[in-house]
Amino acid sequence: MNGKTREKVVRVSAPATVGNMGSGFDVLGMAIDGPADVISAGFKGKPGVSIYNNTSCGLPVNPLRNAAAKGVMTLLGKVEAGVPGLKIVIEKKIPPGGGMGSSAASAVASVVAVNELLGKPFSREELLPFCLDGEEAASRSRHADNVAPCLFGGICLTDPSDPGRVISLPVPGFLHVCLVYPALKVKTSDARRILKKQVPLADAARQWSRVATLVAGLYAGNAEWIGQGVEDRLIEPQRSPLIKGFLQVKEAALSAGALNSSISGAGPSVFALCDNRQTAEKAGNAMQKAFEKQGVHSTVVVSLPNTTGARILESL
Ligand code: HSE
Repeated sequence: MNGKTREKVVRVSAPATVGNMGSGFDVLGMAIDGPADVISAGFKGKPGVSIYNNTSCGLPVNPLRNAAAKGVMTLLGKVEAGVPGLKIVIEKKIPPGGGMGSSAASAVASVVAVNELLGKPFSREELLPFCLDGEEAASRSRHADNVAPCLFGGICLTDPSDPGRVISLPVPGFLHVCLVYPALKVKTSDARRILKKQVPLADAARQWSRVATLVAGLYAGNAEWIGQGVEDRLIEPQRSPLIKGFLQVKEAALSAGALNSSISGAGPSVFALCDNRQTAEKAGNAMQKAFEKQGVHSTVVVSLPNTTGARILESL
Protein backbone atom coordinates (compact mmCIF):
# COMPACT_ATOMS: atom_id res chain seq x y z
CA MET A 1 0.00 0.00 0.00
CA ASN A 2 1.55 3.34 -1.04
CA GLY A 3 1.29 6.69 0.80
CA LYS A 4 -1.47 8.00 -1.46
CA THR A 5 -3.64 4.93 -0.87
CA ARG A 6 -3.11 5.29 2.87
CA GLU A 7 -4.59 8.80 2.73
CA LYS A 8 -7.65 7.71 0.78
CA VAL A 9 -11.07 8.53 2.32
CA VAL A 10 -14.41 7.16 1.12
CA ARG A 11 -17.72 8.78 2.10
CA VAL A 12 -20.96 6.83 1.66
CA SER A 13 -24.62 7.70 2.22
CA ALA A 14 -27.18 4.98 3.05
CA PRO A 15 -30.94 5.65 3.04
CA ALA A 16 -33.64 5.21 5.66
CA THR A 17 -35.95 2.25 5.07
CA VAL A 18 -39.50 1.17 5.88
CA GLY A 19 -39.18 -2.38 7.20
CA ASN A 20 -42.10 -4.84 6.94
CA MET A 21 -44.21 -2.49 4.75
CA GLY A 22 -47.15 -3.52 6.95
CA SER A 23 -47.94 -7.17 6.28
CA GLY A 24 -44.43 -8.39 5.40
CA PHE A 25 -42.89 -8.84 8.85
CA ASP A 26 -39.15 -9.44 8.37
CA VAL A 27 -39.57 -10.08 4.62
CA LEU A 28 -40.48 -6.81 2.87
CA GLY A 29 -38.71 -3.46 3.00
CA MET A 30 -38.44 -0.26 1.00
CA ALA A 31 -35.73 2.40 0.81
CA ILE A 32 -36.89 6.02 0.88
CA ASP A 33 -35.44 9.31 -0.29
CA GLY A 34 -35.53 10.77 3.21
CA PRO A 35 -32.87 10.93 5.91
CA ALA A 36 -29.66 8.99 5.26
CA ASP A 37 -26.65 8.07 7.41
CA VAL A 38 -23.29 9.21 6.07
CA ILE A 39 -20.11 7.33 6.93
CA SER A 40 -16.51 8.13 6.03
CA ALA A 41 -13.84 5.44 6.11
CA GLY A 42 -10.10 5.92 5.99
CA PHE A 43 -6.92 4.15 7.08
CA LYS A 44 -5.34 4.71 10.46
CA GLY A 45 -1.96 3.67 11.86
CA LYS A 46 -3.45 2.15 15.01
CA PRO A 47 -4.63 -1.43 14.37
CA GLY A 48 -8.31 -2.31 14.67
CA VAL A 49 -11.48 -0.41 13.83
CA SER A 50 -11.89 2.97 15.54
CA ILE A 51 -15.34 4.57 15.50
CA TYR A 52 -15.95 8.32 15.76
CA ASN A 53 -19.48 9.59 16.19
CA ASN A 54 -19.87 13.09 14.70
CA THR A 55 -23.37 13.54 16.10
CA SER A 56 -24.91 14.07 19.50
CA CYS A 57 -26.88 10.79 19.66
CA GLY A 58 -25.18 8.15 21.78
CA LEU A 59 -24.04 5.00 19.97
CA PRO A 60 -22.43 1.88 21.46
CA VAL A 61 -18.66 2.30 21.63
CA ASN A 62 -18.08 -1.44 21.88
CA PRO A 63 -17.38 -2.42 18.22
CA LEU A 64 -19.16 -5.75 18.74
CA ARG A 65 -22.39 -3.89 19.56
CA ASN A 66 -21.92 -1.09 17.04
CA ALA A 67 -23.72 -1.57 13.69
CA ALA A 68 -21.09 0.41 11.79
CA ALA A 69 -18.14 -1.53 13.25
CA LYS A 70 -19.29 -5.13 13.43
CA GLY A 71 -19.92 -5.68 9.70
CA VAL A 72 -16.59 -4.08 8.85
CA MET A 73 -14.82 -6.38 11.28
CA THR A 74 -16.24 -9.49 9.63
CA LEU A 75 -15.43 -8.08 6.19
CA LEU A 76 -11.82 -7.51 7.29
CA GLY A 77 -11.69 -11.11 8.51
CA LYS A 78 -12.39 -12.28 4.94
CA VAL A 79 -9.75 -10.21 3.14
CA GLU A 80 -6.05 -10.86 3.10
CA ALA A 81 -4.16 -9.83 6.21
CA GLY A 82 -2.13 -6.64 6.06
CA VAL A 83 -4.94 -4.08 6.15
CA PRO A 84 -3.85 -1.32 8.56
CA GLY A 85 -6.24 0.09 11.14
CA LEU A 86 -9.44 1.76 9.98
CA LYS A 87 -11.05 4.99 11.07
CA ILE A 88 -14.83 5.18 10.62
CA VAL A 89 -16.63 8.49 11.14
CA ILE A 90 -20.41 8.34 11.56
CA GLU A 91 -22.68 11.26 10.70
CA LYS A 92 -25.89 9.86 12.15
CA LYS A 93 -28.88 11.43 10.41
CA ILE A 94 -31.42 8.62 10.97
CA PRO A 95 -32.44 8.65 14.63
CA PRO A 96 -31.80 5.32 16.40
CA GLY A 97 -34.94 3.67 17.79
CA GLY A 98 -37.17 5.46 15.28
CA GLY A 99 -38.25 2.56 13.05
CA MET A 100 -36.50 3.93 9.96
CA GLY A 101 -33.73 1.36 9.65
CA SER A 102 -31.12 3.39 11.50
CA SER A 103 -28.87 0.45 12.44
CA ALA A 104 -29.17 -1.03 8.94
CA ALA A 105 -28.12 2.28 7.36
CA SER A 106 -25.00 2.56 9.55
CA ALA A 107 -24.11 -1.08 8.88
CA VAL A 108 -24.57 -0.72 5.12
CA ALA A 109 -22.80 2.64 4.79
CA SER A 110 -19.72 1.48 6.69
CA VAL A 111 -19.42 -1.85 4.85
CA VAL A 112 -19.84 -0.19 1.42
CA ALA A 113 -17.31 2.51 2.36
CA VAL A 114 -14.67 0.05 3.59
CA ASN A 115 -15.17 -2.22 0.57
CA GLU A 116 -14.55 0.78 -1.70
CA LEU A 117 -11.55 1.84 0.41
CA LEU A 118 -10.00 -1.62 -0.04
CA GLY A 119 -10.43 -1.52 -3.84
CA LYS A 120 -13.75 -3.42 -4.01
CA PRO A 121 -12.75 -6.98 -3.09
CA PHE A 122 -16.49 -7.85 -2.92
CA SER A 123 -19.46 -7.22 -5.21
CA ARG A 124 -22.47 -5.38 -3.78
CA GLU A 125 -24.38 -8.68 -3.46
CA GLU A 126 -21.47 -10.23 -1.55
CA LEU A 127 -21.62 -7.39 1.00
CA LEU A 128 -25.06 -8.40 2.29
CA PRO A 129 -23.89 -10.90 4.98
CA PHE A 130 -21.44 -8.33 6.41
CA CYS A 131 -24.22 -5.73 6.57
CA LEU A 132 -26.42 -8.27 8.34
CA ASP A 133 -23.66 -8.82 10.91
CA GLY A 134 -23.80 -5.09 11.64
CA GLU A 135 -27.61 -5.12 11.88
CA GLU A 136 -27.48 -8.12 14.22
CA ALA A 137 -24.92 -6.46 16.49
CA ALA A 138 -27.21 -3.47 17.05
CA SER A 139 -30.70 -4.97 16.99
CA ARG A 140 -29.90 -8.52 18.13
CA SER A 141 -31.74 -9.95 15.16
CA ARG A 142 -30.58 -10.89 11.66
CA HIS A 143 -33.57 -9.61 9.70
CA ALA A 144 -32.76 -8.33 6.19
CA ASP A 145 -35.88 -6.26 5.46
CA ASN A 146 -34.03 -2.99 6.22
CA VAL A 147 -30.50 -3.96 5.16
CA ALA A 148 -31.44 -5.29 1.69
CA PRO A 149 -33.33 -2.21 0.39
CA CYS A 150 -30.75 0.05 2.04
CA LEU A 151 -27.94 -1.72 0.16
CA PHE A 152 -29.69 -2.27 -3.19
CA GLY A 153 -32.44 0.40 -3.22
CA GLY A 154 -36.10 -0.02 -4.11
CA ILE A 155 -38.40 -2.62 -2.56
CA CYS A 156 -36.91 -5.97 -1.57
CA LEU A 157 -38.38 -9.32 -0.65
CA THR A 158 -36.13 -11.26 1.70
CA ASP A 159 -36.13 -14.75 3.17
CA PRO A 160 -35.59 -15.11 6.94
CA SER A 161 -34.43 -18.72 6.51
CA ASP A 162 -31.84 -17.62 3.93
CA PRO A 163 -31.06 -13.92 4.49
CA GLY A 164 -28.74 -13.83 1.47
CA ARG A 165 -31.68 -14.48 -0.87
CA VAL A 166 -33.10 -11.13 -1.96
CA ILE A 167 -35.65 -10.48 -4.72
CA SER A 168 -35.96 -6.89 -5.96
CA LEU A 169 -39.59 -6.02 -6.62
CA PRO A 170 -40.88 -3.41 -9.09
CA VAL A 171 -41.51 0.11 -7.80
CA PRO A 172 -44.55 1.66 -9.54
CA GLY A 173 -43.88 5.24 -10.62
CA PHE A 174 -46.95 6.62 -8.82
CA LEU A 175 -45.91 5.30 -5.41
CA HIS A 176 -45.19 7.98 -2.78
CA VAL A 177 -44.31 7.34 0.83
CA CYS A 178 -45.19 9.47 3.77
CA LEU A 179 -43.20 8.74 6.92
CA VAL A 180 -44.06 10.36 10.22
CA TYR A 181 -41.48 10.10 12.96
CA PRO A 182 -42.80 10.90 16.46
CA ALA A 183 -40.63 12.02 19.36
CA LEU A 184 -40.96 8.60 20.99
CA LYS A 185 -38.43 5.78 21.21
CA VAL A 186 -39.03 2.06 20.68
CA LYS A 187 -36.09 -0.33 20.82
CA THR A 188 -36.32 -2.95 18.07
CA SER A 189 -35.24 -5.65 20.52
CA ASP A 190 -38.12 -4.68 22.89
CA ALA A 191 -40.65 -4.52 20.04
CA ARG A 192 -39.60 -8.01 18.97
CA ARG A 193 -39.61 -9.49 22.45
CA ILE A 194 -43.32 -8.67 23.00
CA LEU A 195 -44.45 -10.58 19.89
CA LYS A 196 -46.32 -13.86 20.35
CA LYS A 197 -44.26 -16.77 19.06
CA GLN A 198 -47.27 -18.79 17.82
CA VAL A 199 -49.71 -17.70 15.09
CA PRO A 200 -53.14 -19.31 14.56
CA LEU A 201 -53.29 -20.91 11.12
CA ALA A 202 -56.25 -18.78 9.96
CA ASP A 203 -54.35 -15.57 10.88
CA ALA A 204 -51.24 -16.82 9.07
CA ALA A 205 -53.32 -17.60 5.96
CA ARG A 206 -54.85 -14.12 5.96
CA GLN A 207 -51.42 -12.56 6.39
CA TRP A 208 -49.74 -14.41 3.52
CA SER A 209 -52.71 -13.51 1.32
CA ARG A 210 -51.96 -9.84 2.15
CA VAL A 211 -48.26 -10.17 1.39
CA ALA A 212 -49.08 -11.84 -1.92
CA THR A 213 -51.62 -9.09 -2.72
CA LEU A 214 -48.98 -6.44 -2.05
CA VAL A 215 -46.41 -8.17 -4.27
CA ALA A 216 -49.05 -8.66 -7.01
CA GLY A 217 -49.96 -4.96 -6.70
CA LEU A 218 -46.32 -3.93 -7.17
CA TYR A 219 -45.96 -6.09 -10.28
CA ALA A 220 -49.30 -5.01 -11.75
CA GLY A 221 -48.90 -1.34 -10.75
CA ASN A 222 -52.29 -1.70 -9.06
CA ALA A 223 -52.68 0.89 -6.28
CA GLU A 224 -55.75 -0.76 -4.77
CA TRP A 225 -53.98 -4.10 -4.33
CA ILE A 226 -50.96 -2.35 -2.83
CA GLY A 227 -53.24 -0.69 -0.27
CA GLN A 228 -55.00 -3.94 0.60
CA GLY A 229 -51.71 -5.79 0.75
CA VAL A 230 -50.20 -3.49 3.40
CA GLU A 231 -52.90 -4.47 5.94
CA ASP A 232 -51.22 -6.18 8.89
CA ARG A 233 -53.48 -7.88 11.41
CA LEU A 234 -50.68 -9.94 12.94
CA ILE A 235 -47.92 -7.65 14.21
CA GLU A 236 -49.53 -4.17 14.14
CA PRO A 237 -52.14 -4.94 16.87
CA GLN A 238 -49.37 -6.22 19.17
CA ARG A 239 -47.03 -3.27 18.64
CA SER A 240 -49.45 -0.36 18.27
CA PRO A 241 -49.86 0.08 22.06
CA LEU A 242 -46.15 1.08 22.11
CA ILE A 243 -46.97 4.09 19.90
CA LYS A 244 -49.08 6.77 21.58
CA GLY A 245 -51.87 7.84 19.20
CA PHE A 246 -51.13 5.17 16.56
CA LEU A 247 -54.79 4.39 15.78
CA GLN A 248 -55.68 8.08 15.38
CA VAL A 249 -52.62 8.66 13.19
CA LYS A 250 -53.45 5.71 10.93
CA GLU A 251 -57.07 6.85 10.70
CA ALA A 252 -55.90 10.36 9.73
CA ALA A 253 -53.78 8.89 6.90
CA LEU A 254 -56.69 6.83 5.58
CA SER A 255 -59.12 9.78 5.78
CA ALA A 256 -56.62 11.87 3.80
CA GLY A 257 -56.74 9.32 0.97
CA ALA A 258 -53.68 7.15 1.65
CA LEU A 259 -53.75 3.66 0.12
CA ASN A 260 -52.96 2.33 3.59
CA SER A 261 -50.82 3.00 6.64
CA SER A 262 -48.97 0.93 9.23
CA ILE A 263 -45.97 0.88 11.55
CA SER A 264 -42.59 1.46 9.89
CA GLY A 265 -40.29 -1.35 10.98
CA ALA A 266 -40.55 -1.88 14.72
CA GLY A 267 -41.91 1.68 15.17
CA PRO A 268 -42.57 4.26 16.45
CA SER A 269 -42.55 5.83 12.96
CA VAL A 270 -45.78 5.39 11.03
CA PHE A 271 -45.82 5.24 7.23
CA ALA A 272 -48.52 5.70 4.63
CA LEU A 273 -48.40 4.72 0.97
CA CYS A 274 -50.11 7.04 -1.50
CA ASP A 275 -50.65 7.07 -5.25
CA ASN A 276 -49.54 10.70 -5.75
CA ARG A 277 -47.47 13.39 -4.03
CA GLN A 278 -50.38 15.69 -3.20
CA THR A 279 -52.19 12.97 -1.26
CA ALA A 280 -48.95 11.98 0.49
CA GLU A 281 -48.46 15.59 1.63
CA LYS A 282 -52.08 15.81 2.79
CA ALA A 283 -51.72 12.51 4.64
CA GLY A 284 -48.46 13.71 6.25
CA ASN A 285 -50.10 16.88 7.57
CA ALA A 286 -53.10 14.96 8.87
CA MET A 287 -50.90 12.35 10.57
CA GLN A 288 -48.73 15.02 12.17
CA LYS A 289 -51.82 16.83 13.49
CA ALA A 290 -53.16 13.56 14.90
CA PHE A 291 -49.90 13.00 16.79
CA GLU A 292 -49.99 16.63 17.96
CA LYS A 293 -53.49 16.08 19.41
CA GLN A 294 -51.98 13.31 21.55
CA GLY A 295 -49.28 15.72 22.70
CA VAL A 296 -46.62 14.03 20.57
CA HIS A 297 -44.34 16.15 18.38
CA SER A 298 -43.45 14.54 15.05
CA THR A 299 -41.47 15.08 11.85
CA VAL A 300 -42.87 14.29 8.40
CA VAL A 301 -40.97 13.08 5.34
CA VAL A 302 -42.76 12.73 2.01
CA SER A 303 -40.69 11.01 -0.65
CA LEU A 304 -40.49 8.63 -3.54
CA PRO A 305 -38.98 5.23 -2.84
CA ASN A 306 -35.19 5.42 -3.17
CA THR A 307 -34.16 3.20 -6.05
CA THR A 308 -30.37 3.45 -5.80
CA GLY A 309 -29.59 2.29 -2.25
CA ALA A 310 -26.25 3.13 -0.63
CA ARG A 311 -24.32 5.70 -2.68
CA ILE A 312 -20.64 6.61 -2.78
CA LEU A 313 -20.47 10.38 -2.26
CA GLU A 314 -16.69 10.76 -2.36
CA SER A 315 -13.76 8.49 -2.95
CA LEU A 316 -10.61 10.60 -2.71
N1 HSE B 1 -38.58 -6.48 10.62
C1 HSE B 1 -38.06 -5.81 11.75
C2 HSE B 1 -39.09 -5.82 12.87
C3 HSE B 1 -37.73 -4.39 11.37
O1 HSE B 1 -40.25 -5.55 12.59
O2 HSE B 1 -38.72 -6.09 14.00
C4 HSE B 1 -37.05 -3.64 12.46
O3 HSE B 1 -36.61 -2.42 11.93
